[in-house]
Amino acid sequence: MSNAEDHAGTRRDFLYYATAGAGAVTAGAAVWPLVNQMNPSADVRALSTIRVDISGVAEGSQMTVKWLGKPVFIRNRTQAEIDEARAVDVSELIDPLARNANIDGTASAEDENRSLDEDGKWLVMMGVCTHLGCVPLGNGAGDYDGWFCPCHGSHYDSSGRIRRGPAPENLPVPTAQFVDETTILLG
Ligand code: FES
Repeated sequence: MSNAEDHAGTRRDFLYYATAGAGAVTAGAAVWPLVNQMNPSADVRALSTIRVDISGVAEGSQMTVKWLGKPVFIRNRTQAEIDEARAVDVSELIDPLARNANIDGTASAEDENRSLDEDGKWLVMMGVCTHLGCVPLGNGAGDYDGWFCPCHGSHYDSSGRIRRGPAPENLPVPTAQFVDETTILLG
């Protein structure tokens, strides 16, 4: 990838981040007046669950929303990305665990144990590199068609599993569920 393309990718990622932050999160506005401003833990509770409208996320793209102060990637995967993720032999993986808060902590890292829906279209992950916390670049970045962390060169595959570089663990999947066809609840 040339430098120019690299920069273009960075710009794209930033735009997704900015637009998602502006429009997609619909944490209940009505909740805010009830928050006791003298009590920081109430603030935290109010933000610990957010609803995300994913209706605008086209296949082959991702949105990034901020949740509990951290970026969360929500990707609508193509069939090619799903097939690639599901064809991987998990015995070859650096981190053998699913790292999915929605299932048993000992579950293995098959893509089926990481995606949000059975068909594997939707992948929701914390956008925080498990090495030292940078935000990886997405949209097929890196040598494994997933995400790439340029800080120290960690490559994640299309299931967000670490495949090469210093990061020790797969990108974690947060507590998440569909509440209807176009809304994901985080937390
Ligand atoms: S923080 Fe991502 S590779 Fe070091």
